[in-house]
Amino acid sequence: MPKRRAKNLKNLKRLKNRCILLGVSGGVAAYKSVELARRLTDEEASVFVVMTEAAKQFATPLSFETASHNRVYSSLFDEPMAHISLPAKADCMVVAPATANTIAKFAHGLADDLLSTCFLSFRGNVIVAPSMNWKMYDNPVVRRNLDALASAGVAQVGPGSGALACGEEGVGRMAEPAEIVEAVRAALSEKNLSGERVVITAGPTREYLDPVRFISNRSSGKMGYALARTARDRGAEVTLISGPSFLGKPAGVAYIGVETTSEMLGAVTEAVAKGATVLVMAAAVADFSPVRESRLKIEKGRGLTLKLSPTKDIVTSVSSSRKRPFIIGFAAETGSRADRAAKKMKEKKMDMIVFNDVTEPGAGFDVDTNKVEIIDRRGRIHTGLMSKDDVADAIFDRFLEIKA
Ligand SMILES: Cc1cc2nc3c(=O)[nH]c(=O)nc-3n(C[C@H](O)[C@H](O)[C@H](O)COP(=O)(O)O)c2cc1C
Repeated sequence: MPKRRAKNLKNLKRLKNRCILLGVSGGVAAYKSVELARRLTDEEASVFVVMTEAAKQFATPLSFETASHNRVYSSLFDEPMAHISLPAKADCMVVAPATANTIAKFAHGLADDLLSTCFLSFRGNVIVAPSMNWKMYDNPVVRRNLDALASAGVAQVGPGSGALACGEEGVGRMAEPAEIVEAVRAALSEKNLSGERVVITAGPTREYLDPVRFISNRSSGKMGYALARTARDRGAEVTLISGPSFLGKPAGVAYIGVETTSEMLGAVTEAVAKGATVLVMAAAVADFSPVRESRLKIEKGRGLTLKLSPTKDIVTSVSSSRKRPFIIGFAAETGSRADRAAKKMKEKKMDMIVFNDVTEPGAGFDVDTNKVEIIDRRGRIHTGLMSKDDVADAIFDRFLEIKA
């Protein structure tokens, strides 16, 4: 089988070499945008920051300069053509925090500072992250302005609810930097999975011994959730079927929470029957289940011998069905057992299998990175160590190559 590395796949590091215009207006959350600038540069994007005069009361231009590795812009008149030249080179414009004042200016076409003139001259995706006191956010005038921006194609991320800087609680907290980065990635993604109906399983399943104890595994769900976000960003209709996980439900995907293997099997069967075109089995499904589940809590006593039987195999159940989707499986192994994964792919009639050695540093359970080998009938791709989001991109890139 031919082998190659994934670095030539075009969708990896979606923000690499993309130019982001980051507008910062004068709200208390301005300091959080320093982290946003840093996260975007970590993703290898070029970041140019435009601060309003009021923003400089809340965070220093020097902090943004350090985080973005670029000079910070603020005055409309210091560099007379910046309001045209900065937007012209940007792929995406993000305003975080977006104050009630800046939102109102954008909605009404005011152009009295660098940020508002940049907004008017920019042609591309704009994302605003509103941040203000809950009473301000709740004001119908602010809502009307945000609605006007939405009808002009401006995307909104957040705000979230919780404790606000003013000491009150409510909806108005700026979205977290990680969430805003996700919105930028989504805005800049090529929608090459549109028309696909992708079902993804994630996380562990639990098999109960009694009402309080269960057998499970170390899966966090991070790989499956990254796949769900990525497929969504690339235009697919996504159903995420997840075992118990501490991760937040990704927005914009249909989410089905399950606990046991048989619940996961039921949910997958139903989702596939509704016309899935792709099934990605990223869940770490429990392989064994206690032969008998006690109705009452088993007493501690002196010892316990468990009798286990294999759980029903979800992949086999789908791959042997008449109208089957494209099936992508996962094989988490201890040691370099890619050949065993390839054998599993053939035996279970999958179209692709993603092998990873969970004993490798930075790969496998509960980390944000992974290092996999994507195996299909035509060849193998080694990804090298990369973020789980980038691994997800590599998997869908390969799916598209096979489908083409
Ligand atoms: C301490 C303080 C905190 C403020 N926080 C916010 C805020 O979080 N959101 C907001 O919309 N306005 C906030 N404001 C009001 C804005 O700073 C004010 O409307 C300003 O004109 C915004 O200008 P800009 O939109 O050009 O940055 C705050 C004002 C003060 C004094």
